[in-house]
Amino acid sequence: MESFHQKIEKNTGLLIVLTILVVSVGGLVQIVPLFFQKSTTRPVAGMMPYTPLQLSGRDIYIREGCVGCHSQMIRPFRAETERYGHYSVAGESVYDHPFLYGSKRTGPDLARVGGRYSDDWHRTHLNHPQDVVPESNMPSYPWLAKNPADASDIETKMKVLRIEGVPYTDAEIVSAKNELQGKTELDALIAYLQILGTSLKETR
Ligand code: HEC
Repeated sequence: MESFHQKIEKNTGLLIVLTILVVSVGGLVQIVPLFFQKSTTRPVAGMMPYTPLQLSGRDIYIREGCVGCHSQMIRPFRAETERYGHYSVAGESVYDHPFLYGSKRTGPDLARVGGRYSDDWHRTHLNHPQDVVPESNMPSYPWLAKNPADASDIETKMKVLRIEGVPYTDAEIVSAKNELQGKTELDALIAYLQILGTSLKETR
């Protein structure tokens, strides 16, 4: 008499069906509880949505493809927390649509780069990285200082983000254009970099 196990191993169709069943149940058991856990769906205490200037900076970060060389995800390993600070927690990115965790680290992780350098350092670095880090292979972004920050669609962006759960008030949306007045793309990008990772208070 063949055991049930032997029957499954000899019958590929049955093996496939049962494998899919087991993987699905295992996946659901791991994933579904996360939808209901406050630590993964609520912002960390005191976290503010991006200001209009920071939000435009974030869009420039996306446009320029910074995510292709920089992750924003500190993993809970000693080597990473020693270098970058407290590991990233889910509540820090609930206002990020889309998230920019990335998966490529040609340059360092930027999840907690906020406050690590002065605005002036970033200005010099983004204009020509080799002026501050001679061995750097990061490209220069000289046009950022020349281009004015684009205010034309900032209200629409904030309204869309509100639909996705970012708590912008009507007043904030109305005054958004003013905040971008006279700012360059470089100002916006630096404002974004300087807020990164600063909402979690128990960082080093
Ligand atoms: C081709 C890969 C590459 C791209 C694209 C790139 N970087 Fe970098 N970045 C690096 C490397 C390598 C370093 C480390 C050397 C240095 O500091 O310049 C770095 C360093 C940095 C640092 C300093 C981080 C630290 O902790 O010292 C910041 C901030 C930064 N990059 C921001 C950006 C931004 C913003 C963009 C997009 C406008 C960008 N990078 C695009 C490769 C890249």
